[in-house]
Amino acid sequence: MQDMRLQIIEGDITTLAVDAIVNAANSSLLGGGGVDGAIHKAAGPGLLAETRTLGGCPPGEARITGGYNLPARYVIHTVGPIWRGGGQGEVETLARCYRNSLTLATEHGIRTIAFPSISTGVYGFPIRRASRIALRTLLGILDYNPTLERVLCVCYSRSDYDEYLAARAAVDPRV
Ligand code: APR
Repeated sequence: MQDMRLQIIEGDITTLAVDAIVNAANSSLLGGGGVDGAIHKAAGPGLLAETRTLGGCPPGEARITGGYNLPARYVIHTVGPIWRGGGQGEVETLARCYRNSLTLATEHGIRTIAFPSISTGVYGFPIRRASRIALRTLLGILDYNPTLERVLCVCYSRSDYDEYLAARAAVDPRV
């Protein structure tokens, strides 16, 4: 039976009223473009004021802050791998982003969480591989984590959405 708690949607993550949204940040945690830029813009200056106190974040790890002006209560910042061809541990680092974000979420009693497609924009990770890594990791954690109620994979384009649907069929044949 497919795990209905995992949902793939198309949209803008900054609009979602979930307990936490995940930010695809860089290791400085001081903002940037892409979804990082959109989240900081929507959250307002309080978010940067808090991330400034965190002293950065290594790739694969995650840090939590408040959500400020966002509808989400928390932002979990994680730093994905920059794609360098696949021989620098990028696959494991990406999986750790999803794992560490959910671990942090569970520690804070977060039950609904939304992820963007980490590393598949500026960081150049091929979406076909990244979507499979994301879904395989998230489904694996949902298998033994009863407290999570909803995990959303938020795709910012139709093409990414189609890739995630195809990835789900590939990694979760019980569809
Ligand atoms: N909602 C959901 N997804 C979004 C949004 C949004 N508002 N804006 C962009 N995205 C998607 C992109 O289309 C892409 O699929 O987020 C995914 C991740 O792309 P990036 O934001 O470029 O992140 P990433 O590839 O992980 O690169 C991180 O980019 O923005 C900088 O500061 C960031 O240096 C860091 C790097």
